[in-house]
Amino acid sequence: MKKVHIKSFGCQMNVYDGQRMADILSHQGYEETATPEGADLILLNTCHIRDRAVQKVYTELGKLRDLKIEQKANGQYTKIVVAGCVAQAEGAEIQRRQPAVDLVVGPQAYHRLPELLAQTGRVVDTDLPIDDKFGYLPAPKPAAIVARGISAFVTVQEGCDKFCAFCVVPYTRGAEFSRPAAQVLVEVERLAAAGVQDVTLIGQNVNAYHGEGPDGAVWGLARLMQRVAEVPGITRIRYTTSHPRDMGDDLIAAHRDLPQLMPFLHLPVQAGSDRILAAMNRKHTGDEYRRLIDKIRQARPDIALSSDFIVGFPGESDDDFEDTIKLVDEIGFASSYSFKYSPRPGTPAADLRAQVPAAAMHERLLRLQERIEHHRQAFNHAMVGRTVEILLERVGRHPGQLAGKSPYLQAVQIETQANQIGDRVQVVIERAGSNSLFGRKAGPEDLAAKDLATKELAA
Ligand code: 5AD
Ligand code: SF4
Repeated sequence: MKKVHIKSFGCQMNVYDGQRMADILSHQGYEETATPEGADLILLNTCHIRDRAVQKVYTELGKLRDLKIEQKANGQYTKIVVAGCVAQAEGAEIQRRQPAVDLVVGPQAYHRLPELLAQTGRVVDTDLPIDDKFGYLPAPKPAAIVARGISAFVTVQEGCDKFCAFCVVPYTRGAEFSRPAAQVLVEVERLAAAGVQDVTLIGQNVNAYHGEGPDGAVWGLARLMQRVAEVPGITRIRYTTSHPRDMGDDLIAAHRDLPQLMPFLHLPVQAGSDRILAAMNRKHTGDEYRRLIDKIRQARPDIALSSDFIVGFPGESDDDFEDTIKLVDEIGFASSYSFKYSPRPGTPAADLRAQVPAAAMHERLLRLQERIEHHRQAFNHAMVGRTVEILLERVGRHPGQLAGKSPYLQAVQIETQANQIGDRVQVVIERAGSNSLFGRKAGPEDLAAKDLATKELAA
């Protein structure tokens, strides 16, 4: 067997693409290895979302060039492949800056990896074709699914037509595209048959999903998830990442009606000031977002919300930033990601004059992160004393411990001799640490109390 080392940066879709490339390569006689040393093929699956992510790639490539030279001295030829969004956005630049790279392949072209690897010389393939790559991807081997654990990502939608002024995604991943529902369902059935219980449907703008249904009609995400929930073995469903404008009533209703749909929603708002939201081309105001959250909470009162934030978008004043803080404090997100604005070549915001000074940007990020952390801790501490179902996913930190996730996507550790990975266990949360919750298996009284609380909530 030849050896391939795959390193993915960036979002969950890159993790998914990395696995699919591993599946393709497994049919070409490659097995995965955890380190680049000794690999015949090294594949960097890259992210272009912020400048820092891009710089990481070039640093990494410098190290890989040295490794390639060293392995060559020992008689081993190493191929270096750059895939993902940096490949798409700056293929020629990669070839110019790092001659050790053999192949550059974009996110819509990796189904052609076998032919591309067979070519000699330095190759670039960054087509954004209309026909979809998914139809060409081989099924993963069941052993590979098992090795990846009981949670899996499934891409259902790719690309974006929203054109937020800061974002490269419409350029790197192309126009919005939804996979046909039948194709998604076959993939989920295959995962479930190999033991996957928990699926996250992913897309750059996943709630804009509008795939062809088996009945020929256009299906939205809510309809797709209803069918995913019917796949035997699937116990938990999530989806990410969503745009507020595409949060339709049917999708909100699914949070009330579909038991397998977990009470967690990542719904980025980016900023709190209407002026900045308009400059970002977000197509919603702060209050529209607040009203949307109210509606979602009416459908599912205990839902855990999460968001992304950008500080220092061009023109952001102190007052604008205060609007972001206000929104964060009003909504009380269970968790959030926050970033300094990074100008991206080719995006409309990169040409804006009023760039925010680095010091102000830094100060705002620290303040925002302090508020985000405050709300995250508050959300976690509010779990103490509650009984929740935990899906056990891996061994814990200490012997006798197993770790899993709560419905709200929190990491939970429990002591148990009687359970195994894959079990769903009712757990009383006893303590909230800084990154995990700790609990014990629920007894009959805990379950009775939980039933009562659920009934009160419904009333
Ligand atoms: N600068 C900083 N953050 C960005 N994001 C997207 N583009 C940029 C950029 N140019 C953030 C957004 C998005 C998340 C995935 O990355 O918050 O939701
Ligand atoms: Fe990064 Fe966006 Fe590409 Fe994901 S889709 S890897 S977040 S640039």
